[in-house]
Amino acid sequence: MAAQNIVLGASGDLAKKKTFPALFGLFLHGHIAPTTRIIGYARTKMDRPDFLKRISQHIKNTTTPKVKTMLDQFLDQSTYVSGVYDQDSGFQALEQELQRVEKETKTHDRLFYMALPPSVFIPVANGLKKNCYTLKGINRLIVEKPFGMDLESSRTLSKALGALYREDEIYRIDHYLGKEMVKNIMILRFTNQIFGSCWDRDHISNVQITFKEKIGTEGRGGYFDEFGIMRDVMQNHLFQILSLIAMESPTSLNAEDIRNAKVDVLRQIPPVVESEVLLGQYGKSEDGSLPSYLDDETVPKGSKTATFAAAAFHINNPRWEGVPFVLKCGKALDQQKVEIRIQFKDMGSNLFQKDVAARNELVIRVQPEEAVYLKMTQKLPGLGMETVMSELDLSYASRFTNLSVPDAYENLILDAIMGEQSNFVRSDELDEAWRIFTPVLHKIDRGLVPVEVYPYGSRGPKHLPEFVGRFGFERHLQAYSWPETSQA
Ligand code: BG6
Repeated sequence: MAAQNIVLGASGDLAKKKTFPALFGLFLHGHIAPTTRIIGYARTKMDRPDFLKRISQHIKNTTTPKVKTMLDQFLDQSTYVSGVYDQDSGFQALEQELQRVEKETKTHDRLFYMALPPSVFIPVANGLKKNCYTLKGINRLIVEKPFGMDLESSRTLSKALGALYREDEIYRIDHYLGKEMVKNIMILRFTNQIFGSCWDRDHISNVQITFKEKIGTEGRGGYFDEFGIMRDVMQNHLFQILSLIAMESPTSLNAEDIRNAKVDVLRQIPPVVESEVLLGQYGKSEDGSLPSYLDDETVPKGSKTATFAAAAFHINNPRWEGVPFVLKCGKALDQQKVEIRIQFKDMGSNLFQKDVAARNELVIRVQPEEAVYLKMTQKLPGLGMETVMSELDLSYASRFTNLSVPDAYENLILDAIMGEQSNFVRSDELDEAWRIFTPVLHKIDRGLVPVEVYPYGSRGPKHLPEFVGRFGFERHLQAYSWPETSQA
């Protein structure tokens, strides 16, 4: 399908850093037709050369002549319209530009990317519907979080949007659904008997889904402070991962069947309770060299907003009864990584001591360095019967040497161009996620859940090991220790 690509909020950070580079990536790989245009729309008054300069700033790896030529072509196909978000005049100017390019390109489908702050979201959706909704082709709206602050505000937003656009015209992005390893979850689970057959309470002790960032808010405190890490990362990105890990097999790969399966499992999760939540906020690093959250000038003085959260979820169905899903996310930590850790139960054999024959763990490393590995106990090569913890390791960098992992936004924008909705969030999915989080979020907003300060660059709040221990997680300190003798 060829469509005109209209980016609303074209001068903002999200558009510059994510949307335009992804559109260029798709163009480079032949997924954006030369008969279409990229049209930026924002309040900022600037001329076309200025706009082109801005969007090319964040496009990387343009050193080869081929990519340089492609970038020039991409920029040739890009234009800009400046206008406000709450009056018809701007949208009428956008419509004129669209009509002009459509006459030239004979392409009438329109894809609108809403890279916008939530405050202008509905006025823009309204303005577009009134002035730029084409009857000659398809209209699709790609929307970005935040989708509300809680169940009520999310429903208000969904209702307002639903009054303007059909659900099949709305593409709610959760960019984690475009990540290679997240897309791999269904394939791992539903094509491998070895995993499929032990994916349940009989074999699994607990599931940990972890998101760690090394950097703090660094100037993004204004937005972040209002939301906090639970709304920013856990309720959306980590919960999407949880649904894919926990759902039953969908009837087919059809978007509605996949999303039905996700909604079904979410409906079996009771709201998270405050006694099963651990919150933290980063302070200065141990050596005092790195700033605390409160040192960030964009953060309101004395803020209690959490930059770290861990929470346990329970799924009341025959597959998962008694298996806690522990989600953890934080900024300003010791590492940068996102991983899913499925910890299996103990073997129940007393032939070997428990501490030398540790539990199996299946780890899906989402980023960086995508990998799937299975931690297991082996005999240490040699004359004795000593055991060693090792892993079956599928590291993408060494296994798929000629293939590259596509960018999440490229993946999703291509899906939206093709009209494939399975990796976009449906309104009932969103509703269920908010139902689970809202009661505790309201308590957190009222300051009723304690927030523990942790040092910048540490593993998180001091009580974290105790917290995950409560839900059955055992940490293997001796993992991956290849003995010297094995090198011989
Ligand atoms: C965003 C959050 O949705 O995801 C950010 O707002 C977070 O706070 C980011 O840093 C993480 O995305 P990624 O793709 O870098 O893991």
